[in-house]
Amino acid sequence: MILKNKVAIVTGAKQGIGYGIALALAKEGCQVVVSDLSQTDCEKAAAKIKKAGVKTLAVKCDVSKKKEVDNLITKTIKEFKRLDILVNNAGIFPFVSFDKMTEADWDKVIDTNLKSVFLCCQSAVKAMKAGGRIINISSIASFVGFEGLVHYCASKGGINALVRALALELASRKINVNAVAPGAINTPGAKQPDQPKTKSEELVKQTITMIPLGRMGEPKDIANAVVFLASNMADYITGQTIIVDGGWTLR
Ligand SMILES: NC(=O)c1ccc[n+]([C@@H]2O[C@H](COP(=O)([O-])OP(=O)(O)OC[C@H]3O[C@@H](n4cnc5c(N)ncnc54)[C@H](O)[C@@H]3O)[C@@H](O)[C@H]2O)c1
Repeated sequence: MILKNKVAIVTGAKQGIGYGIALALAKEGCQVVVSDLSQTDCEKAAAKIKKAGVKTLAVKCDVSKKKEVDNLITKTIKEFKRLDILVNNAGIFPFVSFDKMTEADWDKVIDTNLKSVFLCCQSAVKAMKAGGRIINISSIASFVGFEGLVHYCASKGGINALVRALALELASRKINVNAVAPGAINTPGAKQPDQPKTKSEELVKQTITMIPLGRMGEPKDIANAVVFLASNMADYITGQTIIVDGGWTLR
């Protein structure tokens, strides 16, 4: 129980990596605010996570909207009186070739994946009175290119840069800011039919050939890194992006 009585917010937590992170934090004793686009989905996920023996709170929040983000922080403080950990996980990865990419496609990805991090961090740090941890879910797409994901790669590269600058600004307030960059992880989002990499069993097999450790990642693999960064074991780590990809980016 390395996070006993801490309070964490996880965005995009109804499924996939976000749900895995919320559950792992709860198993370490953390009280968790489960946030996503639909209140019903948040409540369903929060009810399952509660079985770990901690208090949970479900709050609908579209992370690209300042009003909803501010409401998420207000409700958290009202319920738990403190905020220790913010995990900016919500994100989208719609494939579209650069020639066909519209201004609306670009704005949607940047607003959901990058502007959201600005909004959530700014609102959260006001509530982190006794120091804290901000952990952002980036991607290996911030280090290597993926066709059809120019906007996504830009948004994740933006996160890594934001992490470095914000870590500097918040160091004196004892708020550590880091990122985790996952490789290919088994999630509902990654299984959508318009996702060429995981469209079929054959494509999953092809993806695995890119991964030296020989398997797709699971949400738990990312959650383990997040729990570490949220814990006292990572007291002296700030401004970093930790790659968790089974070795994909090594070659
Ligand atoms: N799955 C992968 O292979 C992979 C690899 C690298 C990085 N990532 C990143 O991990 C994070 C989670 O991805 P996942 O694979 O679990 O995806 P997912 O689609 O399974 O889950 C993402 C969640 O975010 C929520 N969400 C989307 N837009 C939102 C918004 N505007 N406000 C609030 N919530 C919103 C969705 O409702 C969903 O529950 C994303 O940031 C993604 O870019 C995933």
